[in-house]
Amino acid sequence: MSEDLPTILADAWRLLVRGGADRRSPLHTPAVASVDADGLPQARVMVLRKADAATATLRFHTDARSPKVAELDGRPVSVLAYHAGENIQLRIAGTARIGRDDAEVDGIWNQSTTFARRCYMAEQAPGTPLPGPASGLPEWIEGQQPTIDQIAPARPNFAVLWVQVTAIDWLHLANSGHRRAVFRRADGWRGMWVAP
Ligand SMILES: Cc1cc2nc3c(=O)[nH]c(=O)nc-3n(C[C@H](O)[C@H](O)[C@H](O)COP(=O)(O)O)c2cc1C
Repeated sequence: MSEDLPTILADAWRLLVRGGADRRSPLHTPAVASVDADGLPQARVMVLRKADAATATLRFHTDARSPKVAELDGRPVSVLAYHAGENIQLRIAGTARIGRDDAEVDGIWNQSTTFARRCYMAEQAPGTPLPGPASGLPEWIEGQQPTIDQIAPARPNFAVLWVQVTAIDWLHLANSGHRRAVFRRADGWRGMWVAP
């Protein structure tokens, strides 16, 4: 393991970029935490769709009707991931931004498979009480791959969550001695060692 701060930061981003691109990566499904309307912490697993080191952003997809969309837009967000193979925990702090109606979100929507887009056909918003166990999808589409025409009305239910990363807390576990470093955008990502 390198003890050079710029190398560690670059490696952390390399892991995140792979996490966005490779569904077998342990960084593909981090926990994303927000603060709800009652001031309580709310964490949930989300699929990391893309990480971009140049702009220090992470991209997630979600249902525009879910409570976290309102909780997160323009607010602080925390993303937590652990890579068991590398023994590295990344605690990421950032600012959330929700995209819904613009051409960029349209492009992302159009690139997803129709199977992936099917969950946005759910009739009720996530968290709505149901009379019994159910997917919430219209019955006629259960087990079916929707066509482009069938999926089109679900587009308003799709939102993109961008996390503008402002800090990365990197922790490496090792028998020979744990190491921890914190990188902040505010100090130009210079990085500093801290006690693990
Ligand atoms: C492996 C896995 C991946 C998930 N991916 C997403 C995702 O990409 N986007 C999403 O909104 N929810 C995803 N979920 C569901 C969330 O964890 C959560 O249950 C749901 O979004 C409702 O959360 P909310 O009530 O905070 O809105 C995933 C859950 C699991 C277990």
